Amino acid sequence: MSGPRLPGDSGHYPTTRPRRNRREDWCRRLVTENRLTVDDLIWPLFVRDGVGVREPVASMPGVERLSTELLVEAVAAAAERKIPAVAVFPVTDPARKTPGGEEAYNPDNLICQAVREIKAAVPNIGVICDVALDPYTSHGHDGLLHEGQILNDETVAVLCRQAVVQARAGCDIIAPSDMMDGRVGAIRHALDAAGFSHVKILAYSAKYASAFYGPFRDAVGSASNLGHGDKRTYQMNPANTDEALREVALDIAEGADMVMVKPGMPYLDIVQRVKAEFGMPTFVYQVSGEYAMLSAAAQNGWLDRKKAVLESLLSFKRAGADAILTYFAMDAAKWLSEGA
Ligand code: PBG
Repeated sequence: MSGPRLPGDSGHYPTTRPRRNRREDWCRRLVTENRLTVDDLIWPLFVRDGVGVREPVASMPGVERLSTELLVEAVAAAAERKIPAVAVFPVTDPARKTPGGEEAYNPDNLICQAVREIKAAVPNIGVICDVALDPYTSHGHDGLLHEGQILNDETVAVLCRQAVVQARAGCDIIAPSDMMDGRVGAIRHALDAAGFSHVKILAYSAKYASAFYGPFRDAVGSASNLGHGDKRTYQMNPANTDEALREVALDIAEGADMVMVKPGMPYLDIVQRVKAEFGMPTFVYQVSGEYAMLSAAAQNGWLDRKKAVLESLLSFKRAGADAILTYFAMDAAKWLSEGA
């Protein structure tokens, strides 16, 4: 029954009724535009010294720092669930941190040992390693600090050494997260020269100076090193969008195989623009603060954990992401396998 035309009514209703396609479950499934699958997931993990150590991260309920053999077990469980890749982050003994971050390119450092053990025990899962100096510097910055400034080119030289030792340990994807200028090209060159032309580079291209990394810095123990310092002279200003596109363009030109936007949910507009503009494999990182928010609300009974998490992950797919780094990866893989 058509009533009087309202202002702005195109005249299509009642002939056109969008709700018709939402009426039954089978029809909603037919017209679904985006899907989340286990193939989209990358699981970030924290490794620490010791044996048999499983240490909860207070600000990330459900996340633990694991000693190497427990890390390998966790990675095996992820491979069992068909998660394509893990990203491993080291919790470095404070005694090994220095202003120059030399531990970053020690071939026997914690991350290199962990990668060797993962590759030996779990051959068919991708292993991603960050390249940045913050796990290793006594000041907590991703680069070398000189008279209050982060040195760019000097840092890039160290990052190249770090990338090569990680590749030699068996890392499949090198992920520069430092935001120095020119690092992707330099790392590509260093990897190729060392015989690792097959090792991929996932560039943290549009990485913002975000408050949402707080729990991660607790997890790896860099928060106290950084103190009141911040990373705004290298990580991006949250106010900017066009600049993200310029960063991505540079990283692609320098040889990035995949690009990343980080954080995730507050930056879906960036994910969408990057994917639309470049059509590159575009990854997004649902960071520690996003994990903390969703977990805290779920723990309080304020959100339905499974529904809210799966909706958040689907939003990344809708924005155009090809893969998602998320601390919920194992839960999501389980829920998806149960037909969520
Ligand atoms: C290190 C690094 C950070 C994250 C990933 N790699 C922290 C930072 O840049 O300070 C954040 C990840 C997260 O919050 O989950 N460069």
